[in-house]
Amino acid sequence: MQKGVYKLEKIVINGKRKIGGEISVQGAKNSALPILVASLLTGGVSVIHNCPRLSDVDATVKILEYLGCTVKREGHTVVVDSSGADRFDVPDSLMREMRSSIVFLGGILGRMGKAELSAPGGCEIGLRPIDLHLNAMEQFGVKIESDGGEVLCSAPEGLHGAHINLSFPSVGATENIILAATLAEGTTTVTNAAREPEICDLADFLNRCGAKIHGAGDGTVTVEGVKKLHGTEHTVIPDRIAASTFMIAAAMTGGMLCLKDVIPSHIGPLFYPLREAGCDITVSGRWVCLEAPHRLKRIKMIRTMPYPGFPTDVQAQIMALTTVADGTSVIIENIFESRFKHIGEFLRFGAKISAEGRMAVVEGVKELHSASVKATDLRGGIAMVLEGLCAEGETTVSDIYHIDRGYENPENVLSFLGADVKRVTDHERKDNKIEELPFA
Ligand code: EPZ
Repeated sequence: MQKGVYKLEKIVINGKRKIGGEISVQGAKNSALPILVASLLTGGVSVIHNCPRLSDVDATVKILEYLGCTVKREGHTVVVDSSGADRFDVPDSLMREMRSSIVFLGGILGRMGKAELSAPGGCEIGLRPIDLHLNAMEQFGVKIESDGGEVLCSAPEGLHGAHINLSFPSVGATENIILAATLAEGTTTVTNAAREPEICDLADFLNRCGAKIHGAGDGTVTVEGVKKLHGTEHTVIPDRIAASTFMIAAAMTGGMLCLKDVIPSHIGPLFYPLREAGCDITVSGRWVCLEAPHRLKRIKMIRTMPYPGFPTDVQAQIMALTTVADGTSVIIENIFESRFKHIGEFLRFGAKISAEGRMAVVEGVKELHSASVKATDLRGGIAMVLEGLCAEGETTVSDIYHIDRGYENPENVLSFLGADVKRVTDHERKDNKIEELPFA
């Protein structure tokens, strides 16, 4: 954060308006981040299109520049020239700006053969350990010294291929393994790999750069190490989580929404629960249309699971939907150990929710009333906006820097779709001390 004046903003919503219309969605944040890191491996120029304008992308670009890359941004296109990369350390201040910066580990090791970065630490949704990442790197022949805060990695003999089985299909660990394996000596296989679409997009990007990655999106990924990569041009896939979020906004407000130029199979895990809630969903080519019922029905059970199960990143949003559905819904969060922080803020709207451990029971209500709430994290924050869209009266959501990490101008998208929503400056704070905003 620069010294001086910075704005604390909030989103203000006047609810009870139908959300509907036709939109395309931003590029996928969770695809753009690892692809930007992967550009480090090429030592050349990569042109990445459909890159969303988000604070997490800004933080990733800052780290690339610190490492010696030159980065140019024109709208949603980011051009990375990594020929000048000459550092292998990431300072704590930059690591702390973005929780998922751990994915730099594989990229820096793959390029430099050594890496020094601080363990990202926990965040609002869980402890976020990195044991799977570190165990995998050791199997590549990386020596790791970790004092809990700093992680010092070195591979004097270079990285060699390995057979790695992940005890949990961790998205980030799978990405780090692919990044480290691409230029390693020999072949790497990963079993129980994450199957999220963002893994496939990363593999597509790297294969265009000359990598030899097979099986991305399956449970087993094979990477044949190559000597060198070259830059390429790539378009990031649409953001399935943003797409899901806007579908739920339409479902909650009785609207009709068409998403154009999305990848329907990526949103597929949402279709069954939304249809169970009474929504009519049609798919045609790269179009997905949703028509909401007059009154939503409860969803008996939502269990978040690794892809292609129901995404944990849509758990808060689908919970918002169940708060106004007719009947009682049960939600089980199987991925993160404390991803229910938004419930406390939902109760301010008059929602009826009880939670114990990883299970939440939601008794739908006919009406929500407006509230003044604070975003607890990225997805919990946007879910509060969804509650406000449904609530009678004026809702304010503050601490929206959480939301800006993952949604590009959500207030503009929702206004375009008929909502009465705006972003206002909460107040300006003149301060000499650099404020460390909590990161997630
Ligand atoms: C990615 O996080 C996403 N972030 C998350 O999205 C998403 O929720 C998550 O995958 C699951 O889909 C990005 O892609 C930038 P994991 P990641 O490693 O890679 C445990 C959002 O809202 N685990 O699959 O950190 C971990 O504690 C964000 O966009 C270990 O135990 O997720 C968690 O319980 C939030 N040890 C589970 O695995 C490890 O070494 C899933 O984590 C690593 C993970």
